[in-house]
Amino acid sequence: MFLYKNLKFILLLIMSTLTTVPVLAFDPHSVAIPDEAVVQKLYLNISVDFGKKTISGKAQWTIKKSADADAIHFDTKNLTINRVTIDEIENPWKFSWGKDDEILGHELIIPLKSNTTVVTIYYSTTPESAACQWLDQSQTAGKKLPFLFTQCQAILGRTLFPCQDSPGIRFTYEADVKVPVEMMALMSAENPTEKNNTGIYHFRMTNPIPSYLMALSVGDIKFQSIGDRTGVYAEPSMLEKSAYEFADMQKMLEAAEKLYGPYRWGKYDVLVLPPSFPFGGMENPRLTFATPTILAGDRSLVSLVSHELAHSWSGNLVTNANWNDFWLNEGFTVYFERRITEALYGKDFADMEAYLGMEDLKETLKDFEKTPDATHLKLKLDGKDPDDGMNSIAYEKGYALLLLIEKTIGRDALDNFLRKYFDSHAFQVMTTEKFISYIQKDLFSQFPGAEEKIKLNDWIFKPGLPANCPVIASEKFNEVDREFQKWMDGASPKSLRTANWFTQQWLNFIDKLPAKISIERMTELDTIFKFSSTGNAEIADAWFLQSLINNYSPAYIYMEKFLIEVGRRKFLMPLYKEMMKSTAGKELAMKIYKQARPNYHFVARQSVDELLNWKDGL
Ligand code: BES
Ligand code: ZN
Repeated sequence: MFLYKNLKFILLLIMSTLTTVPVLAFDPHSVAIPDEAVVQKLYLNISVDFGKKTISGKAQWTIKKSADADAIHFDTKNLTINRVTIDEIENPWKFSWGKDDEILGHELIIPLKSNTTVVTIYYSTTPESAACQWLDQSQTAGKKLPFLFTQCQAILGRTLFPCQDSPGIRFTYEADVKVPVEMMALMSAENPTEKNNTGIYHFRMTNPIPSYLMALSVGDIKFQSIGDRTGVYAEPSMLEKSAYEFADMQKMLEAAEKLYGPYRWGKYDVLVLPPSFPFGGMENPRLTFATPTILAGDRSLVSLVSHELAHSWSGNLVTNANWNDFWLNEGFTVYFERRITEALYGKDFADMEAYLGMEDLKETLKDFEKTPDATHLKLKLDGKDPDDGMNSIAYEKGYALLLLIEKTIGRDALDNFLRKYFDSHAFQVMTTEKFISYIQKDLFSQFPGAEEKIKLNDWIFKPGLPANCPVIASEKFNEVDREFQKWMDGASPKSLRTANWFTQQWLNFIDKLPAKISIERMTELDTIFKFSSTGNAEIADAWFLQSLINNYSPAYIYMEKFLIEVGRRKFLMPLYKEMMKSTAGKELAMKIYKQARPNYHFVARQSVDELLNWKDGL
């Protein structure tokens, strides 16, 4: 009896730890303990100092606490905390520092009284705050005024403001932002469309958002509307070109709504940033931040806008619970993006992009041959920088899984499911496990045998590409194949039928080029197709890679210029990686990087520094 009682007690003890542990391990990349005390609303009152390269002011948080919570825990990194007050009347208050971690930053602990609902933190960013990129005037299109933009995903929000920096924690916000009078400020919120003469801008975001979607940009910026709900912001000299490129934005929004239900954020605008922006795009709510490298002049690279727009459902509405579930954000978004593309530009066009995506995925899978765990959809990034897990696996393996589901149960059934999925989990978090049980209950139960065919668990918890991966073919690339074969058989580039090729077809052509092409044939391609001097960044990037592989040095001066001007990580990495394969290449990489590095954002620098084994001051 005694033994039995003890056993029961021990079992209960084990069970209780089992049920509390997942709550405590809510997000391995945040110190927040939302079950104890969690933020709900933010009022930010800050001023932007271009001289000091800092943002300072106060972050006033309205919080919710459990009865016995005696503190609230915030993530911070490279912030100076000046003082803390408590309650609406702002009584001076105390705070302490907790864990200090190289990746996660410094835990800020504010004790709470039993009835506390407001804490205010007076703080300042530092020039080391990685979310911010401060550009001097020479790094802008206008060359007259400096520029600031922020990038918070994945865990850089904590370098911009003290916050509970976990995608599972949402808050609404208002902000007053003071900037130099000749500039305009924009946020992931309701935005001004014109400069005012006070330099103070007020912002409101009434939908709750996670901290990684917080965003600010300040500079010489103008607005042009495209339809009643969409528009574009850019530096004045870039505005017309941007508006031309994104002329279909309103149609994209309408196509998206037709697919998966109403757009819940009011307006949808795009801000075109200077070329050092480290990503293609970032889905900041109401205001996508975008690289100017998608301005090809022929609207051929606008899928990026469809992608960021699609995040208004997958990601911003239904949000990955933590970065291990990143594929729920990106895989769904790529699927949604290609459906928008198909609706607007046809299946042939969407197929080309799916094909290029699959090629990219195959390359990434090769890179991870020795670390197969990194190729699971569900990741284990605990203890690592989440940035390390952000590669094409989540995007393209995630896409392929959704395509497989579509092909197994039919498009209508998947569309109905997705519409309901977004609707019933709007403004909530999603874990991989919750998604699995939801799809099993809501969808697979109606399609006997579908689950056995799809093998969801293999896709999510096992490495590589399962054998049932759909084959992705492209009609338009068959045309490229034919012309490419002619060229391989010795035909002159002039004789190839390339007159109406899309950017994607050129990319496919260039990707196919073998190593060891003679300098004469590379020169001939370049002379006729003008790859080295093209204004299309995607084509230029693909060509520079082939130029490196084939030692075609006449392209290098163009590549050098490209690498110094453009800070988009997706373009930089393959080129530097290729250069690092030879001694002469390494020298070239170091020479270029020395000049280019000051123009790169922290996340791009971090990746290239590691690749080149770069030490400051070299
Ligand atoms: N949310 C991502 C960008 C991101 C991911 C930033 C992870 C930081 C960490 C954005 O939606 C994205 O996927 N951008 C892609 C473009 C897209 C068309 C695949 C990019 O920047 O290349
Ligand atoms: Zn994305």
